[in-house]
Amino acid sequence: MERTVRRIPQNEIQDQLGYMHKVRSIVSKKAEQRGSCMKYCVITYGCQQNEADSERLSGIAEKMGYVQVYSEKDADLILVNTCAVREHAELKALSVTGQYKHLKEANPELIVGIGGCMVSQQRRCDDIKNSYPYVDFLFGTSMLYRVPEFIYKRLTGGKRGFYSEFGAGCIAEGLPVKREHKHKAWVSVMNGCNNFCTYCIVPYVRGRERSRYKEDILEEIRTVVNDGCHEITLLGQNVNSYGLDLPEYVGKYDFSSLLQDINEIDGDFIVRFMTSHPKDAKKELIDTMARCEKIAPHFHLPLQSGSDEILKRMNRKYTSEYYLGLLAYMREKIPDICVTTDIITGFPGETEEDFEKTLSLVSIARYDMIYSFIYSPRPGTPAAEYGDQISAEDKNRRFRRLLDLQNQISYEKNLSAVGKTYRVLCDGLSKNDGGMYTGRTAGNKLVHFPCNEDMTGRFVTVKIAAAQPYALLGELVQSDISQ
Ligand code: 5AD
Ligand code: SF4
Repeated sequence: MERTVRRIPQNEIQDQLGYMHKVRSIVSKKAEQRGSCMKYCVITYGCQQNEADSERLSGIAEKMGYVQVYSEKDADLILVNTCAVREHAELKALSVTGQYKHLKEANPELIVGIGGCMVSQQRRCDDIKNSYPYVDFLFGTSMLYRVPEFIYKRLTGGKRGFYSEFGAGCIAEGLPVKREHKHKAWVSVMNGCNNFCTYCIVPYVRGRERSRYKEDILEEIRTVVNDGCHEITLLGQNVNSYGLDLPEYVGKYDFSSLLQDINEIDGDFIVRFMTSHPKDAKKELIDTMARCEKIAPHFHLPLQSGSDEILKRMNRKYTSEYYLGLLAYMREKIPDICVTTDIITGFPGETEEDFEKTLSLVSIARYDMIYSFIYSPRPGTPAAEYGDQISAEDKNRRFRRLLDLQNQISYEKNLSAVGKTYRVLCDGLSKNDGGMYTGRTAGNKLVHFPCNEDMTGRFVTVKIAAAQPYALLGELVQSDISQ
């Protein structure tokens, strides 16, 4: 299939700004007639890239005069940003969408748009088109920038619309954004994936790799830092391929160069990035991290499996030995680095012996944290067709064993932090414990600490007093009054 990567010209973005303006007039008239503002709700499933895309949807809705609410039942416009990486995420989004039928009955003027990775697949588009008649429009990942136009059409009596270019990708600069937080920001550097790991749907729903121009990225970072942002997370399905799709960058400017340039921006902030593919995470990148003080000592390096046989069947293009070599280099150059990973249990054909190899690699690697996933067959990917699928029982059992092992390692690693002092960026009050504030170290470790003053969005210094498997408990040593 020929796939297109389009850089949306600014005149098309201007057209969309025009639609936003027109919708705004309609929305303000409606609000005046009924004596209350029109409200929108954005629901997000899936990864950080989706979170970042949803901040653009919120920005668009605000520009159109809608006011944000967090419950769909209060909304006049619902936008759902879906995920397709595992079946569970799709079923959840479909079940939630099913509930909008009642909302539409109660409020016939309600507009429902479903977007993102799930609806970038033909079969899911067909499902929604045929079985969810109260959904007003669908927008695949490459159609997000046209959401203002779709809403305008529907508000002015247009038909239901299904806008998905399967497997396509685009780059749209200049859309409004409403960021969820002031102190931390997602900044996308590239999007799409060329790797075609055999289990993964992402290359089919987000299209080929495409990088943003460095000037646009650096400008976005300067803007958020000037607005008080202290933590930037650079996003991309494989950030290590940054620039490889831009002929003028090849051999001259890559992800390491970008990190170097970001490091030179003035301001008190740290930078993380995700996700890296081990085959493309080069020593030069690690050297750059070691050199640049603003780049956080945190590396998310998805392993997926510790068995070379399974890695081959996954089309990962590295071996466990190569992976461990990379890890050793990281720890040599950046001794305090926190390393996290993704692991899939129960990939087709995974024997008990293969799984033992994963456990043994996890014991050697001693990750700070892992994100483990039970293999979920994704229709359209090669692995979904493999004949040797693993039973749900075995997948679940392996998943539990992996978690038990990692819980122990995470706990031991956290215990070694007791007595140490960290600079922590405070995220706000802890959701589980009303009296405690919560934040993250530069290595991304979760820290809870009691505090009398609201420190949200500020750096604080915390001395660690106790450890849990997934969090550190500490005491405030001082708050950074410079901010
Ligand atoms: N089943 C289970 N986990 C998956 N992932 C991607 N595709 C699948 C799948 N089909 C996991 C990988 C990836 C993370 C984002 O999601 O571990 O790194
Ligand atoms: Fe999926 Fe592999 Fe691409 Fe990651 S690198 S998005 S796992 S295909």
